[in-house]
Amino acid sequence: MSGNKQNESASPTWNASLYDSRIGYVSEYGRSVLQLLDARPGETVLDIGCGTGDLCRELANVGALPYGIDFSPDMVCRAREKYPDLVFEAADARTYRPDRRYDAVFSNAALHWIKPPEAVLRTARSALKPGGRFVAEFGGKHNVGVIVSAATEALAGFGIDAEARHPWYFPSVAEYATLLEEAGFRVEFALHFARPTPLDDGERGLDHWLDMFGGSFFAGMTEAEKREAYAETKRLAKPELFRDGRWFADYWRLRIVALCESESV
Ligand code: BEZ
Repeated sequence: MSGNKQNESASPTWNASLYDSRIGYVSEYGRSVLQLLDARPGETVLDIGCGTGDLCRELANVGALPYGIDFSPDMVCRAREKYPDLVFEAADARTYRPDRRYDAVFSNAALHWIKPPEAVLRTARSALKPGGRFVAEFGGKHNVGVIVSAATEALAGFGIDAEARHPWYFPSVAEYATLLEEAGFRVEFALHFARPTPLDDGERGLDHWLDMFGGSFFAGMTEAEKREAYAETKRLAKPELFRDGRWFADYWRLRIVALCESESV
């Protein structure tokens, strides 16, 4: 879903209302990851990066017992308002150590924000019962490559080195499977696939995406400079990402199911 967005180079401020109104597709797509999790009534599930809580709601609806954590207090606040019967906590997924073991750890559209990835895998491992499953989807290799290239070229015109500001972690299957094995998981399933994602609001769709997620690239610019850089980013990305009056984010997903092999470390 959203959320546990933390790394050394960028700590975006999350606007929970904007997130729900403009980026609602995150929860929509997350439903197919829930199918992969296939939570059973009574199962306990830790949701890392729960955002505003929609997928915890779905888990509770099938009788599972979700516990949502998110780095953003704003998201957690909104999740509690929306779903007062569920439990959410603001926490850093790199250092979080739950006081219980879960049947499953779940995460949707959050792990690409959390660096180093080894730290969140230690958390997932320590949160799971032996044999428990870790089911996650997040940005994989090539994710938002067209948007980032266009922004990088646009920002070069302002003397900004956007490569140095790249806030995300988008691994290949091979890279992530290696980390999972090193952390004590057995990889049962891994899939890397393109999922072009339509953005709402026609011509302005990419502006909203950049407002929500591109903060680290455009930091320190005046509003006028930023609008100019957005316009140039859009001009460069348009041939590949604008079709039939709407923008598409060039998302690539990495989807994994991994089992906790033995006693936690
Ligand atoms: C993603 O879900 O792939 C994503 C979202 C925001 C920024 C970068 C990637």
